[in-house]
Amino acid sequence: MLHTQTKSLDVESIRKDFPILQRKVHNKPLVYLDNAATSQKPGQVIEAIDFYYKNYNANVHRSIHQLGEEATAKFEEAHQKIADFINADSYQNIVLTKNTTESLNLVAYSLTAGLKKGDEIVISQMEHHSNFVPWQQLAKQRGLKLKFIKIDEEGKLDEESIKENITKNTKIVSITQVSNVLGTINPIEEITKIAHENNAFMVVDGAQAAPHMPIDVKKLDADFYAFSGHKMLGPTGVGVLYGKKELLESMQPFLYGGEMIREVRFEDTKFNELPWKFEAGTPNIIEGIGLGVAIDYLNEAGMKQVHERDKELVEYAMERLKEIKGVAIYGPKERGAVASFNVHGIHAHDVSQVLDSEGVAIRAGHHCCMPLMSVLGVAATARASFYLYNTEQEIDTFINAIHKVKKVFGV
Ligand SMILES: Cc1ncc(COP(=O)(O)O)c(C=O)c1O
Repeated sequence: MLHTQTKSLDVESIRKDFPILQRKVHNKPLVYLDNAATSQKPGQVIEAIDFYYKNYNANVHRSIHQLGEEATAKFEEAHQKIADFINADSYQNIVLTKNTTESLNLVAYSLTAGLKKGDEIVISQMEHHSNFVPWQQLAKQRGLKLKFIKIDEEGKLDEESIKENITKNTKIVSITQVSNVLGTINPIEEITKIAHENNAFMVVDGAQAAPHMPIDVKKLDADFYAFSGHKMLGPTGVGVLYGKKELLESMQPFLYGGEMIREVRFEDTKFNELPWKFEAGTPNIIEGIGLGVAIDYLNEAGMKQVHERDKELVEYAMERLKEIKGVAIYGPKERGAVASFNVHGIHAHDVSQVLDSEGVAIRAGHHCCMPLMSVLGVAATARASFYLYNTEQEIDTFINAIHKVKKVFGV
């Protein structure tokens, strides 16, 4: 039976847009279940990149010639598309960076600069290293205190621990919206309320959320929201930092140089207006434009539909994984599009390697969440992660491949 149709997502036709899905790996059809690491790209994005280099490649915001004007217009339009995608007020709220990691570093450097010794920053035990190491290292350098919200047995943020950790001493709270290991969808609106009641800034790592569900930064009310283009059908090399305008205006730039200035004198410099004040040097022009095209694609599919389809896929995968004896699954029932698991007696890397021989690409390791691994009491997990082009048949192939792994290792 074909299980490839949701009400309004035509998965068969979506798959035709992704040239890479036609290829074989080890002579088997590719089953790409590593979408949390990076997504595949539709022909529309690939062609937009090709078209740019063949037709209007030029630097932006400087050259007064036709190509320069076309490139600038498209690059600025991409900022507006991104703003609309997350319901931000304007393109001025949207800073293009290299990735989520750079977006979070930008915020961490700028916000911690104003703090004094003993001020507190709150993150959680489930954070990705990119929402962990910057805060940890800046806390060390600047004498700040870093606190961690605990996770409960299910893999959700512990409610008591949220209230205990966010206090009047808290200056910044930085939490992931969706865990890249557990799939947990965190209650960002509620945490933001608690942060704001305590006069703390709220930063959200949206790397695993923005690609998969409708995002409304006004409703979330977070002060900053970071995500990566490459996880949402866009090219690598472009990330987003959304920030409230008054905060971005008051912050010191993260990188200095060309493009981010209005006027430079021997004595001092006046910075450019938002968002260009934070985009120093020649920016990631086609990457930004490419992300705009990826957003067109996602809008056409419908983010509600993408989210529903993700749920169908992850629920089906969990159901099938649970049928296999000796498989431990991490994280709560209600989750984003990731399923982390271990097969008893077999290292996650071995699971991944045998799956690869069957054409199935998953990720194995600590997933850039070493502190979380220590809380879970494991060195590594295997992780299958899904996106709009995946099918139930692919999940069946993945499950059959796990049975093969067990056979190979005799467990
Ligand atoms: C939750 C989360 N945060 C941040 C990142 C970092 O994203 P990037 O490597 O694109 O900077 C990832 C990447 O996997 C992630 O899953």
